[in-house]
Amino acid sequence: MHQDCERILLTEQQICTRVKEVACEVDARYAGKFPLVVGILKGSIIFYSDFIRELSCPVELDFMAVSSYGSGAVSSGKLKIKKDLDRDVKGRDVIIVEDIIDSGFTLANLKTLLLERGAASVIIVTLLNKAERREYDISPDYNCFDIENEFVIGYGLDYNERYRNLPYIGILKHEVYE
Ligand code: PRP
Repeated sequence: MHQDCERILLTEQQICTRVKEVACEVDARYAGKFPLVVGILKGSIIFYSDFIRELSCPVELDFMAVSSYGSGAVSSGKLKIKKDLDRDVKGRDVIIVEDIIDSGFTLANLKTLLLERGAASVIIVTLLNKAERREYDISPDYNCFDIENEFVIGYGLDYNERYRNLPYIGILKHEVYE
């Protein structure tokens, strides 16, 4: 275990098993379809790459980078798009893949945006859900793990851009960020 970790919350094996389960459920829903799978950079990249490889339906891949600036602020705060999609979502079935839902600001705004752009459907698949932190009215359609309000790192998640490459999800020691 990394020295900055207090403990491992989810092991590689637990993540692998659950990601396969969730991907299998999502896959069944998209039989005969060609969804656009949208990864939200950067935190989702590891989950995204594991998730898409469990899908048997044909998929198209795309990415967005958005700023969570405004999270926890007034609900009229706007989502800042740092990198937009390459593909037009009009008429497409969109699967948003996210690493974590915290306040819900990012996904509430993103889902609205993609529907306004004419997506035929938008679902949210998240690795982690911090339900107790929710401030915006949004729920994942598929969630791998509900977690408590703890500072998690690894498997794509960072603190100051570090730890994303840890293969498990750990809880960061308080002294690292306090
Ligand atoms: C995180 C996460 C979500 C967002 C969730 O991204 O990936 O996009 O915050 O928070 P919210 O529900 O309160 O909006 P972050 O801004 O940390 O960027 P990163 O994915 O590049 O680490």
